[in-house]
Amino acid sequence: MARIITITSGKGGVGKTTITANIGTSLALMGKKVCLIDADFGLRNLDIPLGLTNRMIYDIGDYLKGNCQLKQALIKDKRFPDLWFLPGSKEYTSLNIKPELFKETVESLSESFDFVLIDSPAGIETGFRNAAAAANEAIVVSNTYRTSIQDADRVIGLLEEFISIPPHLIINMDPGKKKSSLHYENISSILDTLQINLLGVITQDHEIVHSIHQGIPITLNTSNDNGLRFRHAARNLLRNENKEYISAQIKEKKSLHLFKWKKMIRKI
Ligand SMILES: Nc1ncnc2c1ncn2[C@@H]1O[C@H](COP(=O)(O)OP(=O)(O)OP(=O)(O)O)[C@@H](O)[C@H]1O
Ligand SMILES: [Mg+2]
Repeated sequence: MARIITITSGKGGVGKTTITANIGTSLALMGKKVCLIDADFGLRNLDIPLGLTNRMIYDIGDYLKGNCQLKQALIKDKRFPDLWFLPGSKEYTSLNIKPELFKETVESLSESFDFVLIDSPAGIETGFRNAAAAANEAIVVSNTYRTSIQDADRVIGLLEEFISIPPHLIINMDPGKKKSSLHYENISSILDTLQINLLGVITQDHEIVHSIHQGIPITLNTSNDNGLRFRHAARNLLRNENKEYISAQIKEKKSLHLFKWKKMIRKI
């Protein structure tokens, strides 16, 4: 039985789809069997960061209508041995899809995978609820804006109705030192407010936008700091940890510092 995880947020546009694609890819890179479901019916777009748009023939709507079998709607990402994608419906909306049918579909998929990640639509309405009701874990995505954290806090409360395990958190689009008064000053004050397990922090990065347009998840690029940040967050998810990410630059500085100290001590 897979871990079924909804990737959700209060505010729209904070990076749920980007994070689903990259955490899913990172887990697949670690040898896990992963299925990504686009639950943003009507506005589906998880195919874009995965680069699988041209491969879509059927979608979950076709399966629910009985036009195809579930395995016919699934697309295998050829880059990895075990990354699969179930496209969202372009015809159904969250309002006319039956939640119990969606949950049944997710549950039947979960028998064949280690992880099923559900890319939830924006907001806290029906689409959010359908995705949460089908999951047994959640990742809440927020950026560092005060309004976004406030919405994340509300979503964390709403999730309690559906999921017994406390949700995980990913902070996206961290602007680093360029924060204004609209932002939380630092990550620890966000954690004080939300009180949940932080998987990782992804920074504001135009290379992520570029990778989405190319359909190549940034986590495949190990020379990009966020590529490594996604892998780190996925490792935390896999191991149920919340280890802090230390960038290669900081690691290098630390070892240089240690090297200088050792040299000085030898001279004494
Ligand atoms: N770390 C980042 N740095 C820069 N741009 C980003 C980052 N993460 C996501 N984006 C951009 O932000 C936009 C929204 O991202 P995405 O579609 O993943 O958000 P979403 O939460 O799924 O949106 P929606 O609520 O509409 O489903 C996209 O154009 C994406 O390229
Ligand atoms: Mg989205």
